[in-house]
Amino acid sequence: MTSQPKDVGILATDIYFPPTCVQQEALEDHDGVSKGKYTIGLGQDCMAFCTEVEDVISMSLTVVTSLLEKYGIDSKQIGRLEVGSETVIDKSKSIKTFLMQIFEENGNTDIEGVDSTNACYGGTAALFNCVNWVESSSWDGRYGLVVCTDSAVYAEGPARPTGGAAAIAMLIGPNAPITFESKYRASHMSHAYDFYKPNLASEYPVVDGKLSQTCYLMALDSCYKRLCDRFEKLGGKPFSISEADYFVFHSPYNKLVQKSFARLCFVDFLRNASSVEEVAREKLAPFSALSGEESYQSRDLEKASQQVAKQLYDTKVQPTTLLPKQVGNMYTASLYAALASLIHNKHNSLVGKRVLMFSYGSGLTATMFSLKFRDCQYPFTVSNIATVMNISDKLKSRHETPPAKFVEILKLMEHRYGSKDFVTTKDTSLLSPGTFYLTEVDSMYRRSYAKKAEDGTTGGKNTTACENGSLANGH
Ligand code: ACO
Repeated sequence: MTSQPKDVGILATDIYFPPTCVQQEALEDHDGVSKGKYTIGLGQDCMAFCTEVEDVISMSLTVVTSLLEKYGIDSKQIGRLEVGSETVIDKSKSIKTFLMQIFEENGNTDIEGVDSTNACYGGTAALFNCVNWVESSSWDGRYGLVVCTDSAVYAEGPARPTGGAAAIAMLIGPNAPITFESKYRASHMSHAYDFYKPNLASEYPVVDGKLSQTCYLMALDSCYKRLCDRFEKLGGKPFSISEADYFVFHSPYNKLVQKSFARLCFVDFLRNASSVEEVAREKLAPFSALSGEESYQSRDLEKASQQVAKQLYDTKVQPTTLLPKQVGNMYTASLYAALASLIHNKHNSLVGKRVLMFSYGSGLTATMFSLKFRDCQYPFTVSNIATVMNISDKLKSRHETPPAKFVEILKLMEHRYGSKDFVTTKDTSLLSPGTFYLTEVDSMYRRSYAKKAEDGTTGGKNTTACENGSLANGH
């Protein structure tokens, strides 16, 4: 029997994003939009994308293998594996089952969990499932593992620069350096057609961009107000932005994150929170009588609240924005890549700090929840997580692709989406050693992957043995 687990949370994490990326400034030129539209207007610097040798499965294989290796975790120690993704490759077979190849070869097939899907929220659902399992009476003492993996691609048009791609893996267990303050959690879920994927023949979503922005902000308001009320009830004192050291938002693009934090300052003002200084009150006072709907549409309010929030944004939010600005929207991985950015930037000073997380998935589902950093034993320390993720080197070693080539690759991917009977180029020249890649989709849609060997060679022929460099479809 295992004793009641304490301080359940994220023990370890690793992130993978494709080495191929396109600069937003170059994309502005290529798309013929006004200078600054993507870089200042959306607040984005760069966007990662998968070429024809990578997809959500290869990225997950890479990140899971890397996490297990770097933290010295035996794959038999994993008892639950949950995947969050909205990138549909198969309507029945889960991404989780592809990942089982890593565990099967070590004799571990006793792993619960499947995929969770609802736009960018699936990763949070997967994370909650794992945390709840460790805290439950069915926990068998082994680790949980959460994988968020997505390739965010849009049809030509204004949404295209808000794409991105990444996979992130998080090891879940007790005595974690990043724990859940489970009492401080609030959700808002409702029905909306803001962003959805009804066309099963296409990877691209149908997007009502403006509506998605409003839905996001409404859900944010609602979660924040509920969380404030809950905190007040349980903690016996009012909650305001002063109670959290950092705010981590789901980041479709940085401008929305700036607006979101400003919105929280406005809500604090409406709640008469002591965190709002007198000067700020004067600036926001003209907007106090606006209805909810009017307040989402008011450009003047947006401007005033962003001005009021600027200084606090720089300390409480800016350290979380590196990867979302550099990699783009990673859908389910986006929120956790923002958390990874915070760890990368502040790992020496995070112990004891509280982080408020806001997860949003169109359609729509949203939760705000609280995390706290703790001092823990190596290898599960915040500093070691920063070392393992090695974000600086991963960003530095990327390959900038000209926009015309990026568009050409997306055209090929459109053609390949849902098709069968093809082999990829197997060109791994841009991939780091240890990266998995797609080699073939056969006449029965079965996908085969191989691993670029640590010595940089492309690995052997398709076998089921991972260490041989290949993961085949098993037939
Ligand atoms: N210099 C500086 N700023 C500029 C410039 C310029 N040259 N040109 C435009 N801008 C600003 C605009 O003023 C606007 O700023 P604002 O938001 O502060 O008003 C911003 O750039 C965006 O320009 P718009 O014309 O308003 O919007 P656009 O038609 O380009 O679409 C949108 C933006 C809606 C975000 C689109 O990219 C989209 O649909 N993306 C996908 C949906 C999405 O990400 N939704 C978020 C939540 S749902 C999710 O996570 C998927």
